[in-house]
Amino acid sequence: MENSDIVLSVKNLCKTYEGTGHKVQALKNVSFHLYRGELLAVMGTSGSGKSTLLNILGALDEPNEGMIMLNGMVKENMFTEPYATQYRRENIGFIFQSFNLLKDLTVEENIALPLILKGKESDEIDKKVRQMLEMVGLMEWKKHRPIQLSGGQQQRVAIARALITSPPIVLADEPTGNLDFNTSTDILNVLVDMKKRFHQSMIVVTHDPFVATYADRVLFFRDGQIVDVYRCTYEQEDLDRILEKFKKIMGKSQ
Ligand SMILES: Nc1ncnc2c1ncn2[C@@H]1O[C@H](COP(=O)(O)OP(=O)(O)OP(=O)(O)O)[C@@H](O)[C@H]1O
Ligand SMILES: [Mg+2]
Repeated sequence: MENSDIVLSVKNLCKTYEGTGHKVQALKNVSFHLYRGELLAVMGTSGSGKSTLLNILGALDEPNEGMIMLNGMVKENMFTEPYATQYRRENIGFIFQSFNLLKDLTVEENIALPLILKGKESDEIDKKVRQMLEMVGLMEWKKHRPIQLSGGQQQRVAIARALITSPPIVLADEPTGNLDFNTSTDILNVLVDMKKRFHQSMIVVTHDPFVATYADRVLFFRDGQIVDVYRCTYEQEDLDRILEKFKKIMGKSQ
């Protein structure tokens, strides 16, 4: 791979949380690349540092050590406000397990929000929102409020909102965690579709080996470290291989 194929480089990332009388090393020297257009899954036991990693990549939390390069450049002050907010608006699309939609806004208003915050013209906003509504199949629901939608539909809104600014990276923390099997499959297909259409680079945290089979590569975390990697073949065998590796790290962490 050429360097220009790398959208995100993470080098020796360390994060320690200090509580009263105890320290938790949530990340220990984590290094990896995310390639342009890659869907990278992150799996690991509970407490292995997956959310901590996403929070740091999204400038919601600050590492103690390490370096993050986006498109070959270190973003100055990316953890200090107001630059952190600016970094997030320009570079990151977030998708959460709990959808995190604004309940008083309609579907189309929720999707438009990142562009409104960027101060875009209303013509451009309307056009982009229409495109996104069509892509996630929610045109008929645009005037509804989140509470009137199913979980899967709400997650579609969240995906449209995350992608409307065409961010260099999308970060998803357990995006199917609150959904049943069929709805999860449906949402995963939407994500893969977005990846194909926009060559979207994404990191998806999951504890579900089936979800990980939709990725190009899987990083396995244990105790704040990357302990294994699997490159998907997009064949039937992926599920067994991922399951095997996941069981192995589960066993060792106990
Ligand atoms: N704000 C915080 N303050 C103190 N400790 C924290 C904080 N956030 C996370 N931790 C600790 O850091 C470690 C990693 O947590 P993290 O949430 O990243 O795990 P995770 O892999 O996302 O787990 P899960 O699969 O349960 O979501 C855990 O031991 C957790 O208790
Ligand atoms: Mg987590």
